[in-house]
Amino acid sequence: MKAVVPGSFDPVTSGHIDVIERAARVFGEVIVAVAPNLSKRTLFTVEERVQMLREATSHLPNVRVDAFEGLLVDYVQSLGANVIVKGLRAVSDFEFEFQMALMNRNLNPGVETVFMMTGAEYSYLSSSIVREIAALGGSVNGLVPKTVEYRLREKFSQAAGG
Ligand code: PNS
Repeated sequence: MKAVVPGSFDPVTSGHIDVIERAARVFGEVIVAVAPNLSKRTLFTVEERVQMLREATSHLPNVRVDAFEGLLVDYVQSLGANVIVKGLRAVSDFEFEFQMALMNRNLNPGVETVFMMTGAEYSYLSSSIVREIAALGGSVNGLVPKTVEYRLREKFSQAAGG
């Protein structure tokens, strides 16, 4: 069975990878789908986010990475899939995820949303916290895949004129 793991992934964190690995153990084929994120300016371009995800998931043979525009349910349907996998870190994630899952069901009742719990060690992790730590020169070692750590360093050393 095919499942889609959508997100902004700006950038992908170790918590995202944990959920993708869990999805890859349950579903036959997993498509990680990068959304452009219309509501906020992103640190990384869609192409950079796709590239980092490809590098960070290269050990998972049944996972591929793609980008999409428009409604998620339309994209899922265009792939011939009918499952969306979302990660939950804590109860606080649930309210918004619940709203999105029901809205997606309203838009396309044939698409199911499945939630997977992130490993407890990643429950405090988010892309926005990672961006802030990296921007302020803190270590993100272990919080993100190595390829992301390298690119964050590159991004912020450029910004600092280094
Ligand atoms: O990583 P994020 O920011 O929580 O991911 C949110 C995402 C990309 C899954 C969501 O914004 C989305 O599905 N965007 C695509 C547009 C869409 O279908 N919007 C309606 C969702 S109810």
